Amino acid sequence: MKIDLNCAEKEPLIEIVNSRSKSNSSSEKQIYNSSSSTRNSRHHRILFISSIFALLLFVHIIIFSSVKNYNKREVFGWSKNKSRDISDYVFPNENTTIIEPSNLCRSPENIFLLIVVCSSAANFEARQTIRETWGNVSEFNYPMFQKLHGSHNSSYLQANNKHWKQYIEKSSSDNSSSQSNINLATFRVSVVFLLGISPTDMSDEQQYEINYENEVYGDIIQENFLDSYNNLTLKSILMLKWVTNNCADKVKYIMKSDDDTFINVPNLLHVLLGGTVPLYKSTLPYYDKTTIYVTKSKNRLSETKHLLLGYKFCNAKKISNTNSKWYVPNYLYSGDYYPDYLSGTAYLFTFDTALMLYNGSISVPLFHLEDVYLTAFVAEKVKIKRTHHPLFFYQYNTKDKCSMIGMISQHQISPAEMQELYNFVTNLTHIHCAVPQKNFMSMKLNLAQRKRCH
Ligand SMILES: *[C@@H]1O[C@H](CO)[C@@H](O)[C@H](O)[C@H]1NC(C)=O
Ligand SMILES: *[C@@H]1O[C@H](CO)[C@@H](O)[C@H](O)[C@H]1NC(C)=O
Ligand SMILES: *[C@@H]1O[C@H](CO)[C@@H](O)[C@H](O)[C@H]1NC(C)=O
Ligand SMILES: *[C@@H]1O[C@H](CO)[C@@H](O)[C@H](O)[C@H]1NC(C)=O
Ligand SMILES: *[C@@H]1O[C@H](CO)[C@@H](O)[C@H](O)[C@H]1NC(C)=O
Ligand SMILES: *[C@@H]1O[C@H](CO)[C@@H](O)[C@H](O)[C@H]1NC(C)=O
Ligand SMILES: *[C@@H]1O[C@H](CO)[C@@H](O)[C@H](O)[C@H]1NC(C)=O
Ligand SMILES: *[C@@H]1O[C@H](CO)[C@@H](O)[C@H](O)[C@H]1NC(C)=O
Repeated sequence: MKIDLNCAEKEPLIEIVNSRSKSNSSSEKQIYNSSSSTRNSRHHRILFISSIFALLLFVHIIIFSSVKNYNKREVFGWSKNKSRDISDYVFPNENTTIIEPSNLCRSPENIFLLIVVCSSAANFEARQTIRETWGNVSEFNYPMFQKLHGSHNSSYLQANNKHWKQYIEKSSSDNSSSQSNINLATFRVSVVFLLGISPTDMSDEQQYEINYENEVYGDIIQENFLDSYNNLTLKSILMLKWVTNNCADKVKYIMKSDDDTFINVPNLLHVLLGGTVPLYKSTLPYYDKTTIYVTKSKNRLSETKHLLLGYKFCNAKKISNTNSKWYVPNYLYSGDYYPDYLSGTAYLFTFDTALMLYNGSISVPLFHLEDVYLTAFVAEKVKIKRTHHPLFFYQYNTKDKCSMIGMISQHQISPAEMQELYNFVTNLTHIHCAVPQKNFMSMKLNLAQRKRCH
């Protein structure tokens, strides 16, 4: 499923505006050229002026009618009279699970990080690609961190001992295995895929295939709701429901992501353990003035409680254009701006946050944009702060493979690109991934654009 719920819309909009103004100017040129070639003809001039008039009138009518349509259209599936009471869909007191992994949270070993990938029944290829690439956490785990960044080991902060020792001591039952060297430790990371019921022809055969897939891989959670774009909020709440009902005292961190998101698991673990990731030339554009100093300890992650971490959008404006994928009518949200929220392509939280968000969601009316709902409306209600991290990003816009060496997540990645990226990242001879020059801070960097956000 191509899930993309956030402010990525800004760029396509700019493109549309640009291409419109380009085509306008080129057609103006054509008109000008043809009129100049017949400049003696008065007749043509009159024709030209009146056609401009007609064009202006036409544009005026279009703008006027679309303004009239603003806020008129209802959101598919969430019409004005539809119940937005979460309990009507999530059934807090009932078991809504259709399929679940048999031993995810039942084995005696704790899970340090549970990555929940929102997928859908039809996306087998995307799931299989993740299993074979970054989701293969027996290979792509913390020991790879040092290898990824090889000779740049003086340009990042090591994991914070206090952070990981506490965790290892708490989670390992026998003392003999407690590690003296963090780099030898492999953290238990689990990747699961979350599905609903396909809205179109969820045939018995398709359900049989999903059952079979879970028997083979044991990594599927299927919840009882109709899986569609405008139901992604329900998907995320059902994720919280399943995790909080099944994994109490078992899971420390939970990451929500999509099946077209690439997650650099070693980098994520290193950040969760209080370390920092080195800067690369290709990751510089993601930082801002407060996050760029990666070797300063204020840029270590320090919270271990009430954490909600991701790419934070501030002052995002509600979209009233009925043609947009993110259109929101007044009856669903009457404000003009959303509270700060995190991109839904990847956000991370602690188990205690999951409990608070789940409980809070039951009494917050449904809003169909999943990330705005959960990380803004519900998080505000239960007073959970959103923490920005520059290395969670909502696009893979540069198509620069080196960026994934130094990032945590990027999005809108096809299965073929994912395979290519993974081969690149795990090929440990990255001679081409340049780090910034020593004096880069004195160079003109566009780091100011997000500064209002902190
Ligand atoms: C609710 O609205 C939809 C479309 O707007 C309409 O088809 C339906 O009849 C309405 N239902 C009720 C109970 O008013
Ligand atoms: C909920 O239903 C699923 C599927 O039938 C089952 O595997 C699971 O054990 C049930 N959970 C509880 C808590 O009863
Ligand atoms: C995961 O990596 C291990 C070790 O390299 C390999 O044996 C295994 O086949 C991989 N699993 C998948 C699903 O690709
Ligand atoms: C850092 O990397 C250099 C070069 O690869 C290596 O000689 C050195 O031992 C490393 N230092 C640490 C602390 O790992
Ligand atoms: C670990 O060892 C210490 C002493 O070395 C002991 O006090 C503690 O109970 C041990 N913890 C476990 C879980 O066995
Ligand atoms: C959302 O899921 C509910 C419960 O399965 C279903 O009744 C509803 O039609 C779905 N809405 C959309 C927009 O898919
Ligand atoms: C859950 O939410 C309800 C309603 O908002 C609130 O009264 C209750 O205290 C919350 N419980 C917990 C454990 O947060
Ligand atoms: C690693 O990268 C090098 C240089 O680009 C390439 O020649 C080699 O085939 C790659 N190795 C693997 C296993 O992909």
